Amino acid sequence: MATIGLIGAGHIGSQLARLAVAHGYDVVLSNSRGPDTLTALVAELGPNARAATVVDAAKAGDIVVVTIPLKHHRTVPVEPLAGKVVIDTMNYYPQRDGQIAQLDNESTTTSELLQAHLPTSKVVKAFNHIYAAQLTTDARPAGTKDRRALVIAGDDSGAKTTVTRVLDEFGFDVVDAGPLKEGWRIQRDTPGYGPRRTAEQLRTDLAAARRYADQ
Ligand SMILES: NC(=O)c1ccc[n+]([C@@H]2O[C@H](COP(=O)([O-])OP(=O)(O)OC[C@H]3O[C@@H](n4cnc5c(N)ncnc54)[C@H](OP(=O)(O)O)[C@@H]3O)[C@@H](O)[C@H]2O)c1
Repeated sequence: MATIGLIGAGHIGSQLARLAVAHGYDVVLSNSRGPDTLTALVAELGPNARAATVVDAAKAGDIVVVTIPLKHHRTVPVEPLAGKVVIDTMNYYPQRDGQIAQLDNESTTTSELLQAHLPTSKVVKAFNHIYAAQLTTDARPAGTKDRRALVIAGDDSGAKTTVTRVLDEFGFDVVDAGPLKEGWRIQRDTPGYGPRRTAEQLRTDLAAARRYADQ
């Protein structure tokens, strides 16, 4: 069975760990303070979960999720993630992350920043536009009427196929927004960012998204 490594074990990381364990994955969790601070979460998750350093979580994961404040993305270790599918959940909040000029002028996107930092990894943007609590409350089996959908974006089609399978297992339909550079269509303050949407509704939201300068 595959292992999901988590860099970040806060609101989103802990919820993704719950979904992963519930669907038969092993998980290796990490945060900035070290594995000793994750004892309670690991105990809750059970025998298929363990805590490790960031580097060891990156090494252990067949798929690795980066789910930390964006301002820290350059601390993510590069070499242990070479060749791997890396899921990026991060969003840009200047009040938390500080001003990032290339995001302010929209010459790039958050996931392209992570891809540039991890040039040998296959970054897929996912889980960025759903509130953490809803990852478990809104998940439904495939085929459920009006199932909630989530957007992905990425430059590697094989990696997107892998992440689509994970999202479907976890309980969500998937809408592919295209390459990473199209990820802005689901960034903060776009129509699809936050509300519960079906796949059809999300496609409408992506098409209706406007750049910050045009809002
Ligand atoms: N909350 C949501 O509903 C939501 C929804 C979608 C997307 N997001 C995005 O997903 C990301 C995570 O959000 P969150 O709400 O889960 O944040 P959070 O609750 O504040 O958790 C952040 C996690 O990242 C860890 N961390 C911080 N710096 C790190 C570093 N340099 N290396 C390793 N781990 C580090 C923290 O560990 P320590 O506690 O040890 O510092 C903590 O476990 C953010 O970019 C956010 O914008 C959030």
